[in-house]
Amino acid sequence: MRMVDIISKKRDGKELTTQEINFFIEGYTKGTIPDYQASALTMAIYFKDMTEKERADLTMAMVNSGETIDLSAIEGIKVDKHSTGGVGDTTTLVLAPLVSAVGVPVAKMSGRGLGHTGGTIDKLESIDGFHVEITKNKFIELVNKNKVAVIGQSGNLTPADKKLYALRDVTGSVESIPLIASSIMSKKIAAGADAIVLDVKTGAGAFMKTEEDAEKLAHAMVKIGNNVGRRTMAVISDMSQPLGFAIGNALEVKEAINTLKGEGPEDLTELVLTLGSQMVMLAKKANTLEEARQMLEAVIKNGKALEKFKVFLKNQGGDESVADNPDKLPQAKYKIEVPAKKSGFVSNIVADEIGLAAMLLGAGRATKEDTIDLAVGLVLNKKVGDSIQKGESLVTIYANKENVEEVKSKIYENISINNKAEKPVLIHKIITE
Ligand code: URA
Ligand code: CA
Repeated sequence: MRMVDIISKKRDGKELTTQEINFFIEGYTKGTIPDYQASALTMAIYFKDMTEKERADLTMAMVNSGETIDLSAIEGIKVDKHSTGGVGDTTTLVLAPLVSAVGVPVAKMSGRGLGHTGGTIDKLESIDGFHVEITKNKFIELVNKNKVAVIGQSGNLTPADKKLYALRDVTGSVESIPLIASSIMSKKIAAGADAIVLDVKTGAGAFMKTEEDAEKLAHAMVKIGNNVGRRTMAVISDMSQPLGFAIGNALEVKEAINTLKGEGPEDLTELVLTLGSQMVMLAKKANTLEEARQMLEAVIKNGKALEKFKVFLKNQGGDESVADNPDKLPQAKYKIEVPAKKSGFVSNIVADEIGLAAMLLGAGRATKEDTIDLAVGLVLNKKVGDSIQKGESLVTIYANKENVEEVKSKIYENISINNKAEKPVLIHKIITE
């Protein structure tokens, strides 16, 4: 087999065979196929697309390019959740203890990553003593015993995807639905998921800005999952404004605790109940979505969800008393209010720009080497659709530096106040095939 023939075949819009896709992924991972040929193929795929069968083959070839996590020692159906990323997305912190409190095993491998705030692990590390450096055996033991554990990324998972994603990034072929879908799905499958719930965001703060693109990506990923034997469904959710009120690591942990107590922001609560019900269904712990939702609402009400969060923290060395006393989380030195300049209704909060404002305070990292300030961030006092009086606080800034003029300007530039405003729809669509 020759790589040049595979490139030409895709250039002409033909379907590649399983063997051809395997040849490409194996050769590229090993280094026998050079970057220039791989980039010619990814560009051909960008223009000519891939069939359903090619997408499934590419995903499994990338899964098989490295190690995979074997979770078969964990009883039950392991359902993983993946979010395509957004601003102030606190869902994992709430969902992990919440669904585990109704018996769904949560065996999560999580990362730090780049962005406006840290990843789930950074957020959890704002709790004194909490750590994810546990052995695989301990991880499995904890999930079997208490139904929830989080482990840091380890092992050589999907090396083909790492190499290809980096190549696409510098050769103009990131924005390809089959390539994005197979990239995301290969990582979830390699991490051992039996079933997958996808939260595909749409709007200014999302990777997929338009609803049309978000829907295409969701369909593509759901098809891949179901074609390779992992039941998969997707929720398309709004990311035009940040999710919840808090954007920042410790601030989001506090928001997660409030949500587990039933006192969280309305949008975050609705999203976790929507995603959580789907996870409960895929794990076969309920017969209908209504039943699943009622189970989740019940454990929030009776305190079992918060109790589960404490057990989870304690198991991994964390100070579980933060759940009752969030003031034990890292606190910023300065708390600065940003007053509204006029009265009216909040009509727009540009998610990605507000995320950047949080990053200016030190809440996130731009490069892998950056350190994060876990205490800092923003809390929105108003969301789109809310009324506000001149002088009332729009946003509270939590900072460890006194001069936050740049952050303030960014907030004023990206929050609009008008005579009228409509609350955005949170759940745009649910995609099951
Ligand atoms: N995120 C991924 O993991 N892969 C892509 O290709 C794009 C976004
Ligand atoms: Ca939030």
